[in-house]
Amino acid sequence: MPKNTYISELKEREGKEVTLAGWLYNSRASGKIQFLILRDGTGLCQCVVEKGNVTDGLFGQLKHLGQESSLTITGTVRADERSVGGYELAVTDAKIISPADGYPITPKSHGIDFLLKHRHLHFRSQQQWCIGKVRHTVVNAIRSFFNDNGFVLIDTPILAATAGEEEQTLFEVDYFGAPLYLTQTGQLHLESAAMSFGKVYCFGPTFRAERSKTRRHLTEFWMVEPEVAFIDLDGLLELAENFVSFIVAQVLQNNKNELVTLEAGITSLEKIKPPFYRLTYTEVVDILTSQRTRDFLNQQLKELQIQKQQLETRISELEKQQAGQIKQWQKDKIAAELIELRTVLTETNTKIENNPKHAELAAGFQWGKDLGGSDETIISQMHDKPVFVTHYPKEAKAFYMKADRDNKKVVLNFDLLAPAGFGEIIGGSMREDDHDLLVARIGEQGLAVENYEWYLDLRKYGSVPHGGFGLGVERTIAWLTAQKHIRQCIPFPRMMDKVYI
Ligand code: 4AD
Repeated sequence: MPKNTYISELKEREGKEVTLAGWLYNSRASGKIQFLILRDGTGLCQCVVEKGNVTDGLFGQLKHLGQESSLTITGTVRADERSVGGYELAVTDAKIISPADGYPITPKSHGIDFLLKHRHLHFRSQQQWCIGKVRHTVVNAIRSFFNDNGFVLIDTPILAATAGEEEQTLFEVDYFGAPLYLTQTGQLHLESAAMSFGKVYCFGPTFRAERSKTRRHLTEFWMVEPEVAFIDLDGLLELAENFVSFIVAQVLQNNKNELVTLEAGITSLEKIKPPFYRLTYTEVVDILTSQRTRDFLNQQLKELQIQKQQLETRISELEKQQAGQIKQWQKDKIAAELIELRTVLTETNTKIENNPKHAELAAGFQWGKDLGGSDETIISQMHDKPVFVTHYPKEAKAFYMKADRDNKKVVLNFDLLAPAGFGEIIGGSMREDDHDLLVARIGEQGLAVENYEWYLDLRKYGSVPHGGFGLGVERTIAWLTAQKHIRQCIPFPRMMDKVYI
């Protein structure tokens, strides 16, 4: 069997005859010519079939071939700027491998529920393909960054005996009649490894029984966590900003085309270089309760109202066109645009509704509370680069965070907020390294000290200042690819209210 060519290799084969193998992504015919868009996993290619260049029988078969049929297509490669990918095929032959009829996901738009139910097929869409390629780069960049900077990979257990974060979000597993939990974080085990290897990281799935249906929450998500012995908070921030900047640079280097297709903001990503903004929690509270924030939110409300008006005008224009005498393909095109516009209108309405609530929450924010999703969004929208928020109140944070020795009310921690409203992508801290203070914190948080004996041992035998952080992979991808909901950024999402397939 002659070797097939991948679409990504076409630029090296101009003028040559090649055979592509893939699936029919889309097609249209006009009289004696057909345009078949083939996808093969490496890209899309327009294949031009002219009557007379193939047998009449084949011409007829191709004309009626359904979307997502699998086939091989042979032809000569020619450059064409107008074509997807810049090259097209002048077809001389084709072989249908498996014809498909009635593929459920048509080029028309579908609602998100429908698409999630069909994720096993929706994977083939340009959107999912582009996000998948970016995810691949992000995962690769994560591994490269740590491997190239002297970190040792430690695989921490998925079945954990104790809570690493809040107990309320533990998923319990029946482990031979006794309870165990799906891990919320590899951090505690990683701290033990840091005392052996110095610089370590773990990377895997984590689980949180979050009773939260927001666009930022999954019950199963991927997190990478570095942990470093002999580091301080400044050192951690530096590590985090270099790490995030490296991921962004890798995505810009490898996935420009995907970012363009997804309409992600390439220019804003190009700005993501150290240093990032640094604010303390107390400074953030001052910002949230300031006139500046009130003005910012008022301005945002005005812009949303204008956007709403524009959307409504466009929708009614399209509805009129749809009711007129037009061709079926035009009707389909309008129907697709309407679905999209109505979704954006619903989202805009929700934002308009939420704006005063968020303004009220921000204005009344009391020092001591954890920042809510809307507070993070406001701070993140006010900045064009990621923002570190450090030194949160002790009460609002996990038991393991180290108390600031100069101000015992706060801990030496940070969250990193991605810009443009995407919100928190990293949470991290210095760890309490004093045995007795840690015992006290465990008690204060109502946790059973005996469950943490082994963890406390790390403070008995050569305790050192150490810290680390966790970066949420899906939230990072959502920011880079400008996806509103992180469920688009994991192949098969698990959410509180729904697991589709
Ligand atoms: O801030 P978190 O809870 O931090 C930890 O788990 C620490 N133990 C990490 C460490 O210091 N080693 O979570 C870290 C990140 C968040 O910033 C967010 O990006 C992501 O994990 N994350 C979630 N992503 C999706 N769905 C959820 N339910 C998430 N919860 C946290």
